[in-house]
Amino acid sequence: MDSLPTPSKAMLSGFVVWVLLSACGVAVGQRQADSSPMDEVERDALFSAIRGFVGDGWNGSDLYPDPCGWTPIQGVSCDVYNGLWYITALSIGPIHDNSLICSENPVFAPQLFELARLKSFSLYSCFVQQKADPVSIPSSGWEKIVGTLESLEFRSNPGLVGRLPPGISLLQRLDSLVVLDNGLNGELPSSLTNLTRLRRLVLSWNSFTGPIPSEYGRLTELLILDLSGNSLSGHVPPSLGNLTSLLKLDLSNNQRLSGNLPEQLNNLRNLTLLDLRENNFTGGLTQPTFEGMVSLEGMLLSDNPLGGGLEDIAWEDLKRLEILDLDNLRLTGTIPKSISSLESLRYLGLGNNNLTGPLPADEISSLPCINTVHVNGNDLVGELKFPEWFYRKLGARFSAWNNPNLCYPAELRSTGMQPNGVSPCRRPGEEEIDGNSKARLDDGDGDVDWSSSSRSKPESIIIIILWLIILFRLLHRGT
Ligand SMILES: *[C@@H]1O[C@H](CO)[C@@H](O)[C@H](O)[C@H]1NC(C)=O
Ligand SMILES: *[C@@H]1O[C@H](CO)[C@@H](O)[C@H](O)[C@H]1NC(C)=O
Ligand SMILES: *[C@@H]1O[C@H](CO)[C@@H](O)[C@H](O)[C@H]1NC(C)=O
Ligand SMILES: *[C@@H]1O[C@H](CO)[C@@H](O)[C@H](O)[C@H]1NC(C)=O
Ligand SMILES: *[C@@H]1O[C@H](CO)[C@@H](O)[C@H](O)[C@H]1NC(C)=O
Ligand SMILES: *[C@@H]1O[C@H](CO)[C@@H](O)[C@H](O)[C@H]1NC(C)=O
Repeated sequence: MDSLPTPSKAMLSGFVVWVLLSACGVAVGQRQADSSPMDEVERDALFSAIRGFVGDGWNGSDLYPDPCGWTPIQGVSCDVYNGLWYITALSIGPIHDNSLICSENPVFAPQLFELARLKSFSLYSCFVQQKADPVSIPSSGWEKIVGTLESLEFRSNPGLVGRLPPGISLLQRLDSLVVLDNGLNGELPSSLTNLTRLRRLVLSWNSFTGPIPSEYGRLTELLILDLSGNSLSGHVPPSLGNLTSLLKLDLSNNQRLSGNLPEQLNNLRNLTLLDLRENNFTGGLTQPTFEGMVSLEGMLLSDNPLGGGLEDIAWEDLKRLEILDLDNLRLTGTIPKSISSLESLRYLGLGNNNLTGPLPADEISSLPCINTVHVNGNDLVGELKFPEWFYRKLGARFSAWNNPNLCYPAELRSTGMQPNGVSPCRRPGEEEIDGNSKARLDDGDGDVDWSSSSRSKPESIIIIILWLIILFRLLHRGT
């Protein structure tokens, strides 16, 4: 909150009263001496806008008479322009203990657009229920704040439905547009390409359909592009390769995005997070697509019918990679030893693919930061040659079950560190030993479905924590 020290504010208000008295000659006798130097129009607009969301019962007593001075309400910020206070930021929703909270029947009051200096507007958890008479984002009014608004955010408003109105594309000063976890639908407007200053575009977890507009490739200031959690379909436009400043590209959880990953994405040299999980991408992991992504810290592609193998990727170019999530991609071929060049790797997910050949245990256990390895549900063969300390370090974060031709050295049994769902190796001619028949039954006859438990709770928590670390870094760089 920008506020002047009290003496100068008092002086300012005195000055304004004097101006009003002398210049206009208007009767202002009823004006309180301690009222802030805020234009009545601005104050009325603020109170009407807030009442729209919070309800008519709200009388402004917490903000009155000085919305820009000390106030117990969080979410209203002001600044002085030409000696008058103006609202610069309005944020509705339960963010702090004493925030402005929406009523059961919130509405967008048109006075919201009368706030002449509004730079930032955020609406959080306000339209929480779908009404018989559904509420949409207003289609008009935005033209009145095109010169000021820099940040617009609608977050967790499932009752907010309908299109993203074209009027938003007029807000040419917008730096950040976040429309996250609402009920919006329809196609993504290609007119957003007018917002050439955008650095953050988040339209995730709504019900948007249709293609990703190739015009978004012109938003070259973008640092964050997040279109995850919708029902978008079609191909990834090659023009996204023009977004060379991008730090985070998240198209995950759209189920229906398909086709090859365009090789133009290899221009994204600053990209740290690429998340394409849960889609319908095909065409394999192709070298040209990834060779330029030298900053990548998280590559999350799991749950796509991608196909292809791991051998043709120049893993040594991806030295910063910490999370490599390639579960359930129909990968074939072997796991190359060059994976050992991923010296920052913490998480290696290769589960539920069609990988064959031996597991390069020396290379994987030589990775200094590795703490999770999933290779379950493949067709790996031979003896698992990890040292005992490796199993001890990873514990339940190592999974290798459902590889019928994989075994662990029998000596490991005495340590109690034998990997879950893997049988001990048998030397030629050796009889089956009673003690391991359980393990062999489990992984042989399909009674126990190991794959369904392939991600246990502690592991999910680790993924979330790693995610948060990456996100935190992104935000730090992004702003
Ligand atoms: C305004 O509302 C608050 C509670 O919401 C109440 O305590 C206060 O008396 C009201 N003030 C006026 C002037 O109505
Ligand atoms: C986009 O910008 C152009 C030129 O700046 C303008 O003519 C057009 O109306 C804008 N389109 C939308 C949908 O905002
Ligand atoms: C953006 O990408 C497309 C397709 O890759 C390309 O044809 C176009 O020239 C690029 N535009 C700019 C401004 O770089
Ligand atoms: C990539 O990041 C570096 C270092 O943060 C920065 O200097 C450079 O301008 C960025 N490149 C682009 C295209 O944004
Ligand atoms: C995925 O793509 C295949 C064709 O490649 C198509 O048959 C299938 O319906 C698609 N799945 C979804 C969920 O769109
Ligand atoms: C991959 O494995 C699945 C079962 O694990 C099998 O149905 C499928 O035919 C295999 N695909 C290839 C290409 O080997």
